[in-house]
Formats: sequence, structure tokens, C-alpha cells
Amino acid sequence: RLLIIDFGSQVTQLIARRLRELNVYCEIHPFQKVDTAFLEEFSPKAVILSGGPASVIDEGSPRAPQSLFEMGIPVLGICYGQQVMMTQLGGLVERGHGTAEFGRAYVVPTAHRLPLLDGWFESDADREQVWMSHGDHVSRIAPGFEVYGTSPNAPFAITADPERRFYAVQFHPEVHHTPNGRQLYANFVREAGFTGDWTMGAYREQAIEAIRAQVGDAKVICGLSGGVDSSVAAVLIHEAIGDQLTCVFVDHGLLRQGEAEEVVTMFRDHYNMQLIHADEQDLFLGALEGVSDPEVKRKTIGKLFIDVFQKHAADVGGAKFLAQGTLYPDVIESVSFSGGPSVTIKSHHNVGGLPEKMGLKLVEPLRELFKDEVRALGRELGLPASFIGRHPFPGPGLAIRCPGEITREKLDILRRADAVYIDQIRRHGLYDEIWQAFVAILPVRTVGVMGDGRTYDFACALRAVTSVDGMTADYYPFSHEFLGETATRIINEVPGINRVTYDITSKPPGTIEWE
Ligand code: XMP
Repeated sequence: RLLIIDFGSQVTQLIARRLRELNVYCEIHPFQKVDTAFLEEFSPKAVILSGGPASVIDEGSPRAPQSLFEMGIPVLGICYGQQVMMTQLGGLVERGHGTAEFGRAYVVPTAHRLPLLDGWFESDADREQVWMSHGDHVSRIAPGFEVYGTSPNAPFAITADPERRFYAVQFHPEVHHTPNGRQLYANFVREAGFTGDWTMGAYREQAIEAIRAQVGDAKVICGLSGGVDSSVAAVLIHEAIGDQLTCVFVDHGLLRQGEAEEVVTMFRDHYNMQLIHADEQDLFLGALEGVSDPEVKRKTIGKLFIDVFQKHAADVGGAKFLAQGTLYPDVIESVSFSGGPSVTIKSHHNVGGLPEKMGLKLVEPLRELFKDEVRALGRELGLPASFIGRHPFPGPGLAIRCPGEITREKLDILRRADAVYIDQIRRHGLYDEIWQAFVAILPVRTVGVMGDGRTYDFACALRAVTSVDGMTADYYPFSHEFLGETATRIINEVPGINRVTYDITSKPPGTIEWE
């Protein structure tokens, strides 16, 4: 196994992800924990030193145990990790005087060749785009090292001591903006002797062991939304500890057509899980009566959700852990990339704050994974493909697809229109191409004519977007035929709607949901 020593970079998890993609098992451990004894016990086959925010020049800044460099194993230092290597192996790092570099840069090769760089510098341009992010720079490389790549502001962009298999790069090969970075990791793990035989199946086994070790014989409760993340987390935990797990499914009356039945049937009947189906429609819809402000809606739902969850969780009696389907992107988003204050665009709905209030500890078995990896794990656990491929659905549900006041009548109309729209998308084989699609019911009635009569009914908007992570999105370019056919079906099949529009706003400036 491979050890990643984390010096606090925002993108350390991306290194782990690149390695998982190469089917190499790795673990990330914070530098504070990694001492000589830890290294001996862990016995890594190779080590990667991550980037980090500190400066090696500062007194007391983080280091790797010196013994690491005597283990005879390959070490790759990235950014701060590079500077740690240089400092500890006898080179010199200095403060940047106009040599700080943030963002895109181009590295060109030197006369020397290195197996780590197989597949690099092969294009006509003979240079590779990389992503730099450093203030300090190496001014003298350590004895035994040679330079293999340079950039205008980083004369020691790629250095190595091939004899000892020590490699140090100034840039971040793990990020998207270093397009050929994956090749570099592939070369590194090959040099280290990994065969790439580690799979999601193995991850499942390890995760199950870890859950058992963490919770022992204690009870665990889990909020199940029917979304992919909480479902995969629940199935995984259930596999680990069986009936020590109880799931709470809160039906706030803002779910899609047939959704509650689907979730309850699947988890209770198919997976035999202990599931509390909390039917709290009256409570939520009552509290939302007369509310049309989006933030008030979100906060009302968020607060009630916690109350209801807490009430039912208390019924389980003696639970010590709360399971959540937190993913890695949730973890990084919550620490804020810029470091500056971020503006709240929408109050996201989650059960944050609940664990402390209830004295619960968290079980988050998906914390290291990205969405597509969670889907792969879900497939590994045997969840139906149709379930795993479902579009994301927001916690506040249909409330934020019903601008203005929420009424049961509008929700019923919305559910029916949404079901027709999604059916259309599936029939045309477009579901998997689209990241998210839904109908929003508009708070206006418009005049129409059907048969010989006048109608005065609601208008609705169709939304469909493509996206990678929901942070940015583009509207989906349906054909006019598709849109026309869908509008006709909705108006014919859904009483209460007599006008259909298509929302062609991208994000930004729009958001995906309407509220
Ligand atoms: P926006 O509307 O902010 O949505 O562009 C981006 C993605 O997040 C989903 N979303 C939520 N998910 N709780 C959730 O679990 C929420 O409060 C929430 N608000 C938006 C939205 O459906 C889209 O996928």
C-alpha cells in the first residue's frame, strides 16, 4: 500500500483519487501522526508528500520523519512536499522574490530522461501544461538530484534522484489543469512496483471492516433521503453491522410521484433494513403555509427536518452514531477554497449541527469518495442501476420548485407534470445524458383555449441541465420536436397546466433550482 502524508493541501484527496483510478490502494494520514514508529508499522511500498499551505522556511513548519528517506522506498514530493524533500535532503528553499507562481505554467524537458516522465513531452510542442501554486521556490537542489523539467519561474520544476527513486515536482499533477498528470502518477506507481490490482470490491471490504471497528456493538441511525449518497452509505453500513442500523426516512410531503413507496419498498422489503417511515406531510406543509420567501422555506424545512429526525431517532433508543453520506466534495466545499468569506447563495439543507446536539458521533463511510466512485460502490453493492443513475434531488424537495406559496394543489400538479416530463426523457433515451431534469410550477395562471373552452391554469417551466458537479451547468439542447411533444403531453395529461416553457438559463448566472 501507498502512504500519502498530508501537509494540508486542499487537493490531497485528488491524489488519492488519481491512485484509486490506477487501482492502487492508498491511505492519507496527516503529517502530525506520521513518525518513525508509524512508518515502520504502516510499512508503505511508496510515499507521496502532499502540498500544503505552510512555508518550509518558517520555524516549526511541518516535516516528514527523516527516517522516511532511509527506508529505500520511492518518494514523490509535490509542491510543499517537494520543498520538504529538498530541505531535509540538503537542498535550499528560499522565499519567492517575484518568483511566486499561481496557475497555469508550461514545463519543458532538460537533456536528461527519467522513467517518471514516460509519456511526457511527446507532443510536437514538447512542453506540458502544469498547475503551479507556490510562493517559495527551490534555489539549490539536494545532492544526488538532477533537473528533468523547468518552467520560466521554476527552474527546478521536476527534479529527481533516480538511484534512490526520489522524485520532486513543484506543480500539482493531481489537478485537472495538469492534463497529463495522471500519466505521472501511473509512472510513479509502476516504478514503485504496484500492479494495479486494487478494486472497488476491495474498497467495500475495507470500508466494512472500518465501520465495524468504529462502531463496535453500538447502534447507528441514518437519515435516508432516497438519494444515491445516503442510500449507498446505508447499504454499506447495513452490510457491516446489520440490525444495529436503523434508517429514518422523513416524508415531508415534498417528494416526487411514487418516491416514498419506492424508497420504503426497496430498503425495507428488498434489503430488510430497519426503516422508520416518518410521514410528516401535515407538519411540513402546515408550517410552509403562506410562506413564499425561498430562504424562509429552506430554513423552515431544515429546522423541522432536524426536529423530526431527532424525535424518531430518540425512539431507536441508545444510538451512539449518526451515519451520513457525506462525500469528499462536501468536505472541501465546506472549508472554502479562497479562504475568504463566502456569500450564502442558498442555505443548503443538511443535518449539520445535529450530532453535537444529540451527542452522536459521525460515521461517514463515503467521505473519501467522489460522486462517480460512490456510484461505482453502489453498483458493487448491488443497488439497481436505475437507482444509482438517478438525478440528484435536493433536500427541500419540491418546495424549491414551486416559487411563491406552496399549496397541496400545486404540489399535486407539479408531481404529475414532472412524472410526464421524466417519462418523456426516458422514452427518448436522454436520461443518462442529462445531469438533472425537473419541472417547476410557476406562480402565475395564464389564459388558454382547450376544445371550445377558455382555460385559466398554471404555467410550468421545464429544466434540464448538463453539469459535472452541479457547481456550473448548461441547459440541455433538446430538439424542438422533443419540446413540442413534451408540452403537448403535459397539457393533455395534467389538469391544471395550460402552458409550458423551457428554461434556457445556464449556471451562472442562474442556479439549477429555481429557488
Ligand atoms: P443550485 O440550485 O444551487 O443547485 O444550482 C445545485 C445542485 O444542488 C442541489 N441542491 C440541493 N441539494 N439540499 C440538497 O441536498 C439543498 O438544499 C439543495 N439546494 C440545491 C440542486 O438540486 C442541484 O443538484
